[in-house]
Amino acid sequence: MNVSTVNQMRAMDRAAIEQYGIAEELLMENAGQAACTVLQSMAPIAGRRVLIFCGLGNNGGDGLVLARKLHSLSAKVQVYLLGDPNRFTGAARLNLDIVRRLPLNMSQLNACDTLADELTDCDTVVDALFGTGLSREISGLQEQVIELINNSGKPVLSLDIPSGVDGDTGQILGTAVQATATVTFGLPKIGNLLYPGFALCGTLHVSHISFPLALTEDKQLQVAINHPPPLPPRDVTGHKGSFGQALFIAGAASYLGAPRFAALSFLKAGGGYSRLATPETIVPYLSMQAGEVVFVPQLTTHSGSIALSNRAALLELAASQDFAVIGPGLSLDPQSQQLVCELVATLDIPLLIDADGISALCAKPEILQQRTAPTVLTPHLGEMARLTGYSITEIEQDKIGILRQAAAKLQAVIVLKGPHTLIGTPDGQIFINLSGNSGMGSAGTGDTLTGTIAAAFCLGLPFVDAVCKGVLLHGLAGDLAAEALGEDGMTAGDILDYLPTALQMERN
Ligand code: ACO
Repeated sequence: MNVSTVNQMRAMDRAAIEQYGIAEELLMENAGQAACTVLQSMAPIAGRRVLIFCGLGNNGGDGLVLARKLHSLSAKVQVYLLGDPNRFTGAARLNLDIVRRLPLNMSQLNACDTLADELTDCDTVVDALFGTGLSREISGLQEQVIELINNSGKPVLSLDIPSGVDGDTGQILGTAVQATATVTFGLPKIGNLLYPGFALCGTLHVSHISFPLALTEDKQLQVAINHPPPLPPRDVTGHKGSFGQALFIAGAASYLGAPRFAALSFLKAGGGYSRLATPETIVPYLSMQAGEVVFVPQLTTHSGSIALSNRAALLELAASQDFAVIGPGLSLDPQSQQLVCELVATLDIPLLIDADGISALCAKPEILQQRTAPTVLTPHLGEMARLTGYSITEIEQDKIGILRQAAAKLQAVIVLKGPHTLIGTPDGQIFINLSGNSGMGSAGTGDTLTGTIAAAFCLGLPFVDAVCKGVLLHGLAGDLAAEALGEDGMTAGDILDYLPTALQMERN
């Protein structure tokens, strides 16, 4: 499903009205009906006491349609308008005039003196204060109302997006409604899907409110929920060579876990042959814990990292491989860092760069532009900041914009890891991944992502689809682990354990 920015949604509204003749009133009617259907699914409507808070824009208009529909279903409705009703225009104005003729309570809210009691007495709250038209920090009366709503403990339905959430970034402007459920119209907005906006939505419902498919499925929208195509069927006559060969250049004397998790995750996610080029000094320990992996012992530096002198042999070996991963647990030893730069520039097979591999590139990311084969980088927020020169705060304010810019500039797919990982491609496409959970925020889980992506590629998906599939499967394995064990205390090893089940679920 596509995801829209605020401006794209406005353009879609205009196109529906001007190109297809779907009147604004119809769109608003459908939005109100969709909200009513969601409320009906939450609890019976007849006799329910519903408080509806309406702003003066079209979001408030959607709230007024809902008020009329709930009234006709015998709910006890109280509408509060936040501002002078004379400022309503268009379809919202029309609905105001209809509601005025109905025997339901509607008044302008000027102060919050009795609101806490009224909230206590109601059954359900509807937040139709602001949709995507929010343009500045919330303050004053609106701020007080939102705080009282949040403290009421009542179920809250937000229309389109919880009031206070920025539709383009998911960030909170001043304060925001914590909804129990949100019904979003047309398409989900970026702010519905990125944290903290996603968490504030509660259960998210999407209603297309009769927008033509040509608008909602328009490829120009360029942001979509991550939903890659299926993996090709597994070859029943296949052998280890049929399911791909991946080379992991990873590990150092002080990082034994990362190379192990990376190389094993390739096998657990369906890959055929996993080779681990790692310091010779740690091979005896690692081979005890990862017997399925083939080791390629590397000459080491004084600090126990992979030495630069391994370069020629690694290049020769890589020529026979389908995919390479460089970086997990590699350390910041200057020789290993130099090795990364030289290999990145010359390796001509698909390459994933992670962790210390990314650190090596931060000083000269333009090396990536020399590559002749596809590349994927898997930074977390801190690594993304070092890679792009933006601060973490700047990235949080405009994750999608900065990701798109960096992927185009570096000519690499970038997986920006975090809650709802983002994938950006060099041609400007962004995918928002919805699998995964906070239990995955522990050491080693990033390493298990590297092999999962490599396996998705080796199982036959095109490069970008493989990256998307790897991210999805990895999150799914995390969700399965969380379901079985809980998010607290989940480890990278648990993700490894659940990768085969995640793969099986994706195939079925
Ligand atoms: N404090 C106080 N007021 C504020 C603040 C703030 N922090 N931020 C914005 N406002 C004001 C704005 O100035 C604006 O008021 P104005 O129109 O007097 O200038 C108002 O709040 C905007 O409020 P919204 O209702 O959020 O914005 P809009 O009228 O653009 O409606 C919409 C948003 C269309 C409902 C959006 O959420 C959306 O696109 N939804 C999907 C499509 C849809 O629902 N269509 C049905 C409606 S029909 C139609 O819109 C064409």
